[in-house]
Amino acid sequence: MDFKIPKHIAIIMDGNGRWAQEKGKSRIYGHYKGAEVVEPITLKCKDLGVSYITLFAFSTENWKRPQEEIDILFKLFKEYLIQKEESIMKNSVNMRFIGRRDRIPKELSDMMSYMEQKTSHNNGITLTIAVDYGGTDDLTRAINKLIELGKTNITEKDIKGFLDTSFLPEVDLLIRTSNEKRISNFMLWDLAYSEFFFCEKYWPDFTPEDLENIIEEFSKRDRRFGAIVV
Ligand code: FPP
Repeated sequence: MDFKIPKHIAIIMDGNGRWAQEKGKSRIYGHYKGAEVVEPITLKCKDLGVSYITLFAFSTENWKRPQEEIDILFKLFKEYLIQKEESIMKNSVNMRFIGRRDRIPKELSDMMSYMEQKTSHNNGITLTIAVDYGGTDDLTRAINKLIELGKTNITEKDIKGFLDTSFLPEVDLLIRTSNEKRISNFMLWDLAYSEFFFCEKYWPDFTPEDLENIIEEFSKRDRRFGAIVV
């Protein structure tokens, strides 16, 4: 495939609940089905030569959901990491997490730290999961850290350096499933010049072929980053 491959893809995995409800199943079933899509999409990215994939798993606004759904989502994330540890290592996936660590269950944050450490030398692809993440929250925390350090004349580099996303390059391609056309407080700073693609399918139905088709479309877009074509 001689497409222009994005270095960093971010995905808003939307529609698990509706996918399940339309099938007369519980929303939780939809989340479990959604989790099954993470591995094939990550491995497809790796095969295509994408260096970074970042997935929005739980936003700072998702705390508004029923407590039962929140608890099950955190349990699912932890179980997922335990279950996939072997495959993550086999495929040399470097796992990172962005978002707040102070409000999620300790057993989940411990598992996240364990996976980050365990996979730190893997260099196949960097898979970043956003948990209790909000773009505005990330920026606010970064600015407060700069204030604590007594920084003045703050530069863009200073801000980026204190974001949770400091280790990530800017996002080239943002995909959102379920035909909703919103950023929903995802990586506000890093999406500044991303190309956006909205897919009608719900996340559990999203396939590696869908991803490949979107990358082909991305390849045709003319990215000028504010400049003009001469
Ligand atoms: C959006 O669907 C999905 C979420 C809020 C949770 C994302 C979680 C997963 C895809 C599960 C697995 C993830 C990992 C990293 C193992 P929704 O509930 O907002 O759907 P709706 O808009 O139809 O209600």
